[in-house]
This record gives sequence, C-alpha cells and structure tokens, in this order.
Amino acid sequence: MKTLFISLALIFCFSTYNEILAQPDSSDIPNTQKTWWKEAVIYQIYPRSFKDSDGDGVGDLKGIIEKLDYIESLGVNMVWLNPIYSSPNADNGYDISNYREIMDEFGNMEDFDLMLSEMHKRGIKFVMDVVVNHSSDEHRWFKESRKSRDNPYRDYYHWWPAEKGEPNYRYSLFDPKGEAWKYDSKTNAYYLHYFSQKQPDLNWENPKVRQEVYDIMKFWAEKGVDGFRLDAFQFVSKDTSFPPLPKGYEKDVIKYYGMGPNLHKYLKELNREVLSQYDVFAVSEGAGSTFEDAHSLVDADRNELQMAYHFKGMDVGNSLEGYKLSELKEVYTTWDSAFAKKGWLSIFLANHDVPRMVSKFGNDSPEFRAASSKMLNTFILTMRGTPYCYYGDELGMTNIGFDSISQYQDIVAKNGYEKTLNEGGDIEKYMAELKFLSRDNARTPMQWNDSEHAGFTTGTPWLPVNDNYKEVNVEAEDKDPNSCLNYFREMVNFRMENPVLVYGAYELLFPDHKQVYAYTRQMGDKKMLILLNFSKEESSIEIPSEMKELQLLKNNLPEVTKQGLDLTLAPYQALIFSYR
Ligand code: GLC
Repeated sequence: MKTLFISLALIFCFSTYNEILAQPDSSDIPNTQKTWWKEAVIYQIYPRSFKDSDGDGVGDLKGIIEKLDYIESLGVNMVWLNPIYSSPNADNGYDISNYREIMDEFGNMEDFDLMLSEMHKRGIKFVMDVVVNHSSDEHRWFKESRKSRDNPYRDYYHWWPAEKGEPNYRYSLFDPKGEAWKYDSKTNAYYLHYFSQKQPDLNWENPKVRQEVYDIMKFWAEKGVDGFRLDAFQFVSKDTSFPPLPKGYEKDVIKYYGMGPNLHKYLKELNREVLSQYDVFAVSEGAGSTFEDAHSLVDADRNELQMAYHFKGMDVGNSLEGYKLSELKEVYTTWDSAFAKKGWLSIFLANHDVPRMVSKFGNDSPEFRAASSKMLNTFILTMRGTPYCYYGDELGMTNIGFDSISQYQDIVAKNGYEKTLNEGGDIEKYMAELKFLSRDNARTPMQWNDSEHAGFTTGTPWLPVNDNYKEVNVEAEDKDPNSCLNYFREMVNFRMENPVLVYGAYELLFPDHKQVYAYTRQMGDKKMLILLNFSKEESSIEIPSEMKELQLLKNNLPEVTKQGLDLTLAPYQALIFSYR
C-alpha cells in the first residue's frame, strides 16, 4: 500500500484488468457521431504554476489572461484549469471551502469573468474542475455538520457514531496513518475522508447535497463555462453501510470504495438537472473498474456523462524499473477497441498527479529530450479520443527530481514520508520513488524565458523552477523552427485539419515489435500510418506491402528518413504517412 502515496495514478491501479471486450470485427461501425468536444484539443493548466501577475510567487488568473495569446498560438481550442475556488490549499485547491468564490491567491470573480470572455473571444472553450466527492473541512457545511448530531448539515457528510463501535476499516489515500475514518470528539463520532483529513467525503445519498452540487454547476454554467471535469467522481456513490472489506479487496479498490449502487441514478439526475440544460460536456476522472463500468458512465444512449478518463495508461511504468512498450500498446489498444462503437475517452500521458510525460515515457537526457517529447505529443495527437495536453509538455518540460523531503510541497509526498517513517519502511527507497513519481515533478512553474525564475514570477516561486529553464522555455523555443513548441503547434493543426485522426478507426500493427508503436487510423478512403520509435536505438520496420502510395506527412526529426518499405527509424522518431 505504501506506493499508493507516491503517485495518485496508483490510486486507481488496483482495478482488475480481466474484462477485455472482444476486438470489434470489420463490420463494426466506429464511433463517428460528431460533436465539438470530440474534436477539441484540451490544454490543461495548473493555475498555481502558470503565470504569476502580482509577484506573490503563485500563478493567478490575471497571469493566465496575460498568456491567452500564447495559448491561442498553440492551436488548442479548450482549456481545463485545476480548481480555482476558495480553498485552504491542503491539497492545492482540491479542498474547497466555497464553491462560488475564487481563491484569493488566484484573483476574484471579475478576473474570472474577464478570463472566460477573453477565452471565448479567441474561440477557446473552458472546462471547470468540479470537486464534489469531498469538500474542505473548512467549508461552512462541514463546520456546521461537526457541531452537533442534530445539525441540519449533519447528513451532508458520512458520520459513524462511536457508540456503534469502531467503523470498518477504510483506507485513506492521503492520510499519514492510512485511516479514512477520523474520530471527532465534539460529537463522539467518526467522519469519512477517502483523501486527507481535511477533505471529508460528501454524502451523496442526501438529496440536499446533490441539489447543492447541481446548483453550483448551474451557477458556473450560467457564467458560460463549457465543460466540467468531475474529480474523483467514481467514488461519490458508496455502499454507506460500510461493510467489512473482503480479503483481497486491494485488487479492486474501486469496486468496494466507489461505483456504488446509486451512481447511475445520480448521474442521470445530474444530466437531467444540469448537463442537458446547457451546451456543456462532462468528463469523469476515473472510469470504474471494468469496461462495463467505463461504458456505463459515458454511453451516449444512457444520458449520463460524455467522456471518461481511465488510468490504465498512466498506471504503466509507475516504478523505478520503467515500463515495457508492450504494456502501453496493450492498454491503449484494448481500451480503444472497447470504445470503438460507444462512449468516448480522453487521451493523455500526463497531468498534475503524475510525473512529466517526457521523464516517464520518453527520455529526458539532453540528447533525446526534444525528440522523445515530440514523439509522445505525436502519439497523443494521433490517437482516437480527446487529447489532453498538460502545460509545459509542449516545451518538453522535465521532472525536477527533488532530493530532500523539505523540497516537496505536495500533501501526498509529505504524508507518505511520515507514513513510511511511522511504519519503519524503507525511507531511501521511498525517496528514490518520490524523486521520480512525485506529483510535484509536474507542478513546477511554467518556463517562459531565461530570466530569473523563468519569467514565471518576480517574487519567490511557490515551487522552484527546473534548472533547465535557460534552454527549455517559450521564448527560446518560439524562435527555433525545430523546437518542441513549434512541432506541437504543427501537430495540433494537423489534428484539427484531419478528422480521420479524431474519428477514424484505430488498428495496431506489429504488436510484438519491442521498440516501435505502429498503428493506422482510417476513415473512408483517408488512411494514415503512424510509426513511433519509443526507444533510444535505431529501429527498423517493414511497411506492409499492401499499403500503396505512401506519402510522408510528418516527421518529428529534421533529418531525412530513408524511405521505402524497409524503414529505419532514428531514436524516438515519429513518422506519419498517408497511404491507399
Ligand atoms: C483527483 C485530483 C487530485 C486530488 C484528488 C483529491 O484525483 O486529480 O489532484 O488530489 O482528486 O481531490
């Protein structure tokens, strides 16, 4: 369980992977029903780290407004911001104390309104993060709830009266003791917190709680937001009798902790009350523990949510040993085939909860950083599903890799350290894993230029800037036609211009090739072949002879590639061909 503290992606990795749907046969019709959110390319911004406008070392909304021309220049047409609501910041905004206010450090509602209208002017849509599996313990609801057992807000949360004995064990993902029930002497009862003690779980069984959530979402939809990212949503419906966990439950945590009996009732209600009333979409963080679960969340015929993101791809390589390309291929191929006809997925290799994409799946050495980062962006932008690009990955930003626990800011890192010490665990191993897997790796300030603190702030940044900012920064990359940044822009445009990359069928080629991930995308007579060398070795591949009239459309490396049916790919080379 200890590694759970390292990477949040691991939270979701216990689900069984045995329910693989059959590959679609050739008569299956791919998921081609068109909608704007399928055609979007989403840019994720961690607002604390993007651009500080007032010198307090923390990014803010005015900073984002300053950089909207840059965001537009990327070609992306939607932005998702991590939570920006009032929060005591135990978990950097994922602990909300007021759902209708902006966090002081980030600005105020006027800034928000301006940011949204400036985005819309540029044709960029906006996704709001909605964190309603839990609130902050400093939210008014919780302050009331813990006052007395007969307080009107008591049932907004899950309480277990102490006279019933100790509640059955539940694991907390963020607690230094690993306990999800916290005793509160004021009313002699325990409250539930799947995440930290400062993030009590809301009780979705209570219709008043659900109504509050719908009202909050309507408040933001009325303001004009275009989408909602539903945080930790698979956990909202739980078996609230909290029975003892069966042996081996760790293998499928989600089944016992979330995806509860009423989830679909609530989702239909949410859809009826909010989603169907506006031109918005909702994406669920997490996708249950089986393909049936995942489908049931986003199957268009069910009128619940529109999109899900699963963690299987992120779970690959969550250890110092790295990963095998075969695992990555298997995950993306089985998920794609499971969603070939119904439902819709997001495609991403990084976010604020996991290491930097290039450090994890590519190669962050100076020699290969740029090539591998471009290759990974080629992957994200040529798969079926809506691509999510994490800020800084367009530049090839890398893990910072802290050495000492005092450098970390993340609650998961700090509490995990304490837990490892408490349990007499291997602290050296923990620190080595943290260096690679910590969430802080992906949260360092955006690198704008080679001035002090990379132009992120005039003050002291809340998290240090990565040392490589002198070379890896927007200003330098903007000028270099071969930079990661300019390649990213080209690739975003390329995806926007080629609907086959959005809707076309995906087929894996050479499943056993150890270095090259090869696949085709096909829609009608539009056909593309994508070849990605995931290794630092040259790799050869023989293009199937039935592919005619091959034409090279994209190459992430400036070098000319020997063309012909026998191809040699340079380390981390990415090539896209059209063919007939
Ligand atoms: C989600 C967020 C993560 C947060 C957690 C608790 O997994 O992505 O950053 O810590 O939920 O809200």
